[in-house]
Amino acid sequence: MVLIDGTPSYSCTREIGTLAGRSVVTVEGLGRDGALHPLQQALLDEQAGQCGYCLSGITIAGVALLARTTRPSRDEIVAALDRHLCRCGVHNRVVRAVQRAGAVLEPPTVRTGDGA
Ligand code: FES
Repeated sequence: MVLIDGTPSYSCTREIGTLAGRSVVTVEGLGRDGALHPLQQALLDEQAGQCGYCLSGITIAGVALLARTTRPSRDEIVAALDRHLCRCGVHNRVVRAVQRAGAVLEPPTVRTGDGA
């Protein structure tokens, strides 16, 4: 899973020809200035990764959610991550990590849509 213009999208089924001129961010591209994205750090802090198989998709979907709201409810987190099955069963830790990351992020800027 990757962010395409900020939207979580499956990369495995995407034809490269559809991506011309679009922004594509992988899980490896989330950090800034040598630091992990706050969600990546929170996943580590909460020890949310066991085998790690699910974490790339969870991280991308969680980052997209946090771009919309830095204080998501538990229901919003569950809905945003619903398509990601963690066979190791760390769902509660993932939810805590999303909340933990949101607590250190600035709220997203509200766009008015009028170009102002
Ligand atoms: S950490 Fe193993 S599948 Fe999620």
